[in-house]
Parts: sequence; structure tokens; C-alpha cells
Amino acid sequence: MADKKTKQRVEYLRSELHRHNYRYYILDDPEISDAEYDRLIGELIMLENEYPEFSSPTSPTVRVGSPPLDKFETIAHTIPMLSLDNAFSEGEILNFEARIKRNLKIEGQILYTAEPKIDGIAVELIYEDGKLVTAATRGDGFYGEVITENVRTIRSVPLVLTGENNPEIPLYLEVRGEVFISKKAFEKLNRKQEQKGIPAFANPRNAAAGSLRQLDSGITAQRPLEIFFYGLGKIDTMVPETHGQILSMLKNMGFRINRNIRAGIDMVQVLDYYRQLYEKRHELEYEIDGIVVKVDNLKLQRQLGFTSKSPRWAIACKFKATQETTRILDIQVQVGRTGTLTPVAYLEPVTIAGARVSRATLHNEDEIKRKDIRIGDMVFVERAGDVIPKVTKVIKSLRTGDEKVFQMPQSCPVCKSQVVREENEAATRCINAACPAQLKENIRHFASTHAFDIDGLGQKLVEQLVDKNLVSSFEDLFNLQQQALEKLDRMGPKSAKNLLDAISESKKISFSKFLYALGIRHVGTHVAKLLANHYGTIENLVHTTVHELISIDGIGPMVAKSVHHFINAEENKNTVERLLESGVKILYDDSIHASGSSDLNGKTFVLTGTLKNMTRNEAKACIENAGGKVTGSVSSNTDYIVAGDKPGSKFEKGKKAGITIIDEETFEKMIGKQI
Ligand code: IVH
Repeated sequence: MADKKTKQRVEYLRSELHRHNYRYYILDDPEISDAEYDRLIGELIMLENEYPEFSSPTSPTVRVGSPPLDKFETIAHTIPMLSLDNAFSEGEILNFEARIKRNLKIEGQILYTAEPKIDGIAVELIYEDGKLVTAATRGDGFYGEVITENVRTIRSVPLVLTGENNPEIPLYLEVRGEVFISKKAFEKLNRKQEQKGIPAFANPRNAAAGSLRQLDSGITAQRPLEIFFYGLGKIDTMVPETHGQILSMLKNMGFRINRNIRAGIDMVQVLDYYRQLYEKRHELEYEIDGIVVKVDNLKLQRQLGFTSKSPRWAIACKFKATQETTRILDIQVQVGRTGTLTPVAYLEPVTIAGARVSRATLHNEDEIKRKDIRIGDMVFVERAGDVIPKVTKVIKSLRTGDEKVFQMPQSCPVCKSQVVREENEAATRCINAACPAQLKENIRHFASTHAFDIDGLGQKLVEQLVDKNLVSSFEDLFNLQQQALEKLDRMGPKSAKNLLDAISESKKISFSKFLYALGIRHVGTHVAKLLANHYGTIENLVHTTVHELISIDGIGPMVAKSVHHFINAEENKNTVERLLESGVKILYDDSIHASGSSDLNGKTFVLTGTLKNMTRNEAKACIENAGGKVTGSVSSNTDYIVAGDKPGSKFEKGKKAGITIIDEETFEKMIGKQI
């Protein structure tokens, strides 16, 4: 039996260790040496082992992890965790301020807080009575995964709120922040992974995400995760007047706040800060992909409010892309889900902004000709945020004469059937609907997270299933047999059974996910949700008209035509029927938020000039697919003008009206053009 003295000693050690954590991580001003800290925590671990009745979820010893979980629970965020609108240049940051002033009808100065935009994973932590009780990922913004045990292992997360200036600790508090891995710790972690023969992580962000989503918090505990806090969710005490004061308040409670934050600065200082951080970003210990600018005054923030996906009072100002030079080793052609042939450059691997890059899209034939890209060329490769890398320029002065000119194939590299290039279209397509490459891509899409979400059905497996003729249509997936699966490469009885279980589990599916899974051209997750919400059932949808489709807010003529065409094609009707016969059950309680998650959602675009990498129609479809609208002329409702080559009068008109004008590159970033 433990005596009173032991209990007192345990409590003393805990409060001392919390205090030293705070001094070390929050104030950056340790009082004791690391060795002394280790001695104290060692004594506490020993006492807790000996007297389990003293164990506590907020003890500093929980940093070593808890028993593994079977799966993550989900939790609804009390206040949605929205994302941020993006700006890619100083001009766009100025437009942000102009919009705010227009909105608030203010002409005078507005003050902001400017913060580094940490490239990590957003989390929300809930404290009750000053104790950490729950931590969750951002998830889809409305629902997150509960990762409390994992977050407890992060040393810069306070388990108990103390602080030094005796701040008032709320009974209920939600705080938000970004979990990340520093650049140095990332290198070290990857060296360890390689020594163990495990694949290295592509970048610190992936490493942080992977570490945070471990079912075994013992593994998370061994990963060098850190956190910076940047905001509040719900709180049951009075909030201060400015965002800057919120950050000070959080710091006083014991939360780690980034020291490069500037509060209460005007727009001139914001732009200066943007430039300074751009220059300084390589010196920082962690990766940032821009800055976040927030209106400082909380009353003004409330007045500005939110759009369906982001606050009007904040903006993420991304940095310009980072470039490196490397050599093109080969150019190969990939066949996509809709039969589009995309030339892809295979590169001598190079690290750009923390990620290893070995491939880059070359978009299409015209683009290769325009840039005169040849196999063997030294080129500039650019990577910006999460966009697929691309070749921006050939260094012609380094040519040796051995470079080879690339020819677009006349037949599909996969099924050998004829390829066509429609007039007015940049893309070359394989028109064989039964092309195995298209089938594979379609099956992959069908099984992907936002569709049937079949766990374990990755690219390699899909390839085998199609190549071995086990799958030649979607419904074949639901008729796979254990025996046939066991014979595949890297498959055994157990993995075959797991796959069959996953397939069987996937049969119950929401209407919007079902629609998305079908792979209808121009129907992404957002449009699928709009359709599901509008029609409610598949029967209603199949009887619709183009006219009705267009009447849906957020669906334009291009998308409407594509949907109508798809649902009226006999083979697609049969596919749906056969899926239902195979046991697929559509769940029609699809009240998922139709707001979508795209930056373009609800925005109005005007296109002017000639685009290099896509036709107007393609650009239009991309915008509509993401929930945006395209109009023919500039008005006060226009949010963006996309200016291609030789833009016309719309450009001038937009410029005068102060509308955000973006070039094709920026537009591609917005639509997240991918290979
Ligand atoms: S504020 C409602 N501040 O950026 C807006 N976000 O693109 C809440 N991020 O999901 C976000 N550093 O994961 C904010 N200083 C910072 C940030 C930051 C990184 C991330 C966060 C968010 C994403 C938005």
C-alpha cells in the first residue's frame, strides 16, 4: 500500500515536470539540465509502476504511449474547422484587404496578425477544467478522428494547464494548432527508416501525418512531433478583443505559440513580413509554405463572417514555387481514366522544397513543342505547395546535341488502338472504352477513399486483377473469389480474406460516394454531393433532363451535359443495375454538407485570352466541377479573371474594377491540376 508521503511525492514530481516542460517548450528558458529532467521523470515512472493506483492520463509519463486502438473514433467539431482562401502574390494580398474594406465599408487602416503558415497537420485539442481530455484531426472540417492518445505523446502539448502568470483557466476550452516535424528531426527519422529497410517519408508533412495517425500511440511517441497553437475553437470564458491577445492568453496558459508571429500590424508591414519570411524560410527549423494573415480585431472578424468554406477575415499567402534543375531521363505516356494521354517526364531525382521529385507532368503535346522539351535536356523543375511538379524551362545552353525529340504516339501505349486529337482540344485520347489502362484507372477511382473506399485495393493489385482477367468491370470486384485471389503475387489466404472483407464492407455506400465512384466525366466529390442532395435517389436522377441539371446551383452546362449523357448510355444503366444486383446498397440518408471543399466553390470566373495547357471548355469544366461559375463578362460579381495569352478588353475592365486577375499557372494551382 502506498502511503501518504509517496502520494505527495508523485504529485510533487508531476507538478515539477509540468512546470519544467512549460519552461522548456513554451518559454524556451529551461531551469534544469536534461539529465536532471530525466532523473525526475525516471523517479516518477518507477513510482507509477510500483503503485498503479496513482496512474493518471495527464501524468507527464504518458508521453511514452498507451495500449493500441482498433480504430479511430470520429468526433463532430463544435465549430467547423474551415480552411483558408489562398493568395499567391502581393497583389492578391492587397485584393484581400480591398475586399475586407468594401465589406466593412471602412476606408481607414485595418490591423492584422501575420503568422508563419506551418506545413503540418491541423488538430483541435479539448481541455476540461485545465486537463487535456480529447484531441482530434481536422478531418473533413466537420468531423475529425479522435487521436487523443497520440497527441498526449507530443512533448510540447500541455497535458495540464498551469502557466506562470496565473491566467484564468476556462472550464471548457478548444484550441487549434498545427502538428509538424522539424526539418532536422525529419532527416534523422528518415535515416532511421532507411536503416530499418522501411521506405523513407517524402517530406516532413507526410511524416507528421503518418505519425499522428498511428493506432499504436507507442509508435507516435517515438516520432519527433511538435506543435504550434494558432487559434481557438469554443471557449466558455470571455475572449479578449484581438487575435493577438488570444495568442498571448494561450501562451500564458501554457500553449506553445510561434515566436515569429507579428500582431497588430498594418498592410504595409504585412507585405514586408511576407517578403521577410520568404527570404528567411530556409533558416527556420520547420517547413512553412507561406504566411497566414488574420484581421486582428475580433469584432471585425465577426462582422466579416465566413463563406461556406473559409473565413473572410483570414487568408493564406502562399510563397512562390521553388525551383531546381535536373535532367529529363525519359518521357513516357500515361493513359488516364478518361483515356487522355499525358506525357510524363522521368527525372534524375532531385529534392525540391523538402520532397523528392522524380516525375513531372508535361501536360500535352503542344506544351512539349512550345517549350521545346527533349529527352536528355537539363531543365528547371518547379514544385508549389501540394501541386504536381512541372517542367518550367529547358536550359538550352547545356544541350550536347544528343537530346532526342519526343513524338506523341499514334496508338495507345497500352491497348495499341488508335488515338485521336479533337479539334480545339489540347488532349490526345485513346478512344477504346475497353482499354485496360482506362479500366485500371477506373477501378482505382472506384475503390478510392472518396468512392467505395476499399481498403487494401491499391494500384499494384488492380493491375494484377485486370491483367489476369479477374476484373473487367466494376461489378466483377464484388464477385471475386478467395481461391483466385490467393494465387496473386504478394497475396496469401489472410490478405485475400481481408480484401474480400473490405470489399464486402464497402457495399453499403452513400449516394454521393456512389455517384462519384462511377467516374462520370467532370463529376468530382463536390458535384456528386450536389446531385445526391438534389435528387435524393438514383431513380430520380436517371429520369432528369439537362434543363433540370442546369437549374441546380453550382452545376453548369458542361457538367450537366456530361451527367445526362452518362446516365442515358445503355452500358452505364446496365453497370448500375449489375452493381445493385451484386449487393451494393446505396444509403439515401446523404445529408453530407454540399458546401464542398474546393477553393473555387461559389466563385465567379471570367476567362480571357488563350490558355496554353487547356481549352476554354476544359477550364470551364474544371471550375464548374469545383463548384464555381463562369460568366462571359466582367461585373461586380466577378471574383477572378483568368488571363491567358493576349487577353482582351475584359482584362482591362477587370483591372480597373480591382478584380483579382490570375494567370494560367495560378489558375492551375487553384484547380490542383494533377497527372
Ligand atoms: S488559421 C479558419 N493559422 O493552414 C482558419 N492555419 O489552409 C484556421 N495552418 O487548416 C486556420 N499554420 O492546418 C491558421 N498560423 C496558422 C496556420 C494555419 C498552418 C494550416 C491549418 C489550416 C490550413 C489552412
